[in-house]
This record gives sequence, structure tokens and C-alpha cells, in this order.
Amino acid sequence: MQLKITGKYNMLKVVQNISNLADIHYVRQKEPLGLGHAILCARKFIGNEPFAVLLGDDIIDSETPALRQMINKYQEVQSSILGCKEVPRLDVVKYGIVNYSYRYQDMYKVQSLVEKPSVEAAPSTQAIVGRYILSPMIFEMLERITPDAKGEIQLTEAIDLLLSREPIFSYLIQGKRYDVGDKFGFLQASIDFALKRPDLKKQLEQYLLDSLMKANKEADL
Ligand code: G1P
Repeated sequence: MQLKITGKYNMLKVVQNISNLADIHYVRQKEPLGLGHAILCARKFIGNEPFAVLLGDDIIDSETPALRQMINKYQEVQSSILGCKEVPRLDVVKYGIVNYSYRYQDMYKVQSLVEKPSVEAAPSTQAIVGRYILSPMIFEMLERITPDAKGEIQLTEAIDLLLSREPIFSYLIQGKRYDVGDKFGFLQASIDFALKRPDLKKQLEQYLLDSLMKANKEADL
């Protein structure tokens, strides 16, 4: 309303376009009891259908959106799909890691999962990067598992349990992934996305060049 009153019609259009993209329903997770618990809170919105989970601190930039890539895979195999990326071995400690038995086209048949394993214990370097398409059977599994040492209900553990009932595939997502929950990842994403915008590209490039030259000069002194 404020934008309308002040005649900022271009900005008003941007805001309206965003709110017309989808119907947003939300539920608050009243206690920080883990990702699995957060998903359980959303159960009443989902009912008995497969659904997608997207973690907001994982951003993936690709021509075909990451979730679209995964929906295409779901349509082929009609099974839960975990969106993954290969990560450096030292980074396995930050992710849910896939133990797979064989490759099927550009997917992998998941055999088991382990949440944040040690470098030595990790069965592979294939990490889940915050994109999931899950069968509604996951809710039963989430209800069955017990909280971990930190009191959190881990989604990874529930998916591991789901494996005893249904096949699950992992898929290596195409595109560049940013971890914006990490300070440096947040900066990388901000810079790369800004450089793609015609209204910011030139100005940002000049700013980065100036900053680098200044930093180099200071290092020489
Ligand atoms: C969560 C999941 C983990 C997954 C990661 C992706 O961990 O528990 O399995 O690999 O997101 O970003 P978190 O980042 O919340 O510690």
C-alpha cells in the first residue's frame, strides 16, 4: 500500500509478482528439535503425497533448476530422490553422506546413509545438499526414530530407516552450489549473483578491481 501511495509502481510490481508465484502456507517449529522434527511439523500440509524439501541455506544455480532436475528423476523411478554433490573428503563431516551400491543412469541406488560421519568412517564423498523429494512414508519413520545426543530428530536417520521399506536414489545435481549458512559461501553467492545482473555487473566489477588493487598496494608497502 505504501508503494502504491508513494507512486513507486515499478517496485510494487516486483513485490506483487513475488506474491503471485505461489500460495505460501507456513508453520512454525516452536522448538529447535532438528530438521526431521521441522518436517514432521509440516505433515498436515502434505497429506499422503510425495513432497519436496529445500533447505534455505543451500542455494544451487543452474540452467534447469535443481528441483526440476530432481522431479524429472522422480518421474522416471517413482522413488524418493536425494539431491547430492561430490564434496572434498575433509568436508564429509558437515553433511549427510550416501553409501550407494550401484549407479543407475545418472542416479545411484542408496544402500545406507550416515549423518556427518568422520573422514575415516565416511562410505563415500557423495553429500546431500539440502534438496530432497520424499515419499510420505517418511513421516512414519520420523515418528519411530529417537532423538540424537543433541536432542534432535535427524532427517538423515529417518531416510536411512525408510530404506528398509522403499528404494531410494541419489542424484548428482548439475549446477553450482553455495552454502550461504557459511560466511564465505554467503559472500560468494552474493558476488556471483550480483555479477549476473546487468544493473549491478559493471559497478561491482569496478568495485572489486579497486578493492583488489588497494589490497595489493597495501601488501607491497
Ligand atoms: C543438514 C542435514 C545434512 C545435509 C545438510 C545439507 O545439515 O542434516 O544431512 O547434508 O543439511 O546442507 P545442517 O547443515 O543443518 O547441519
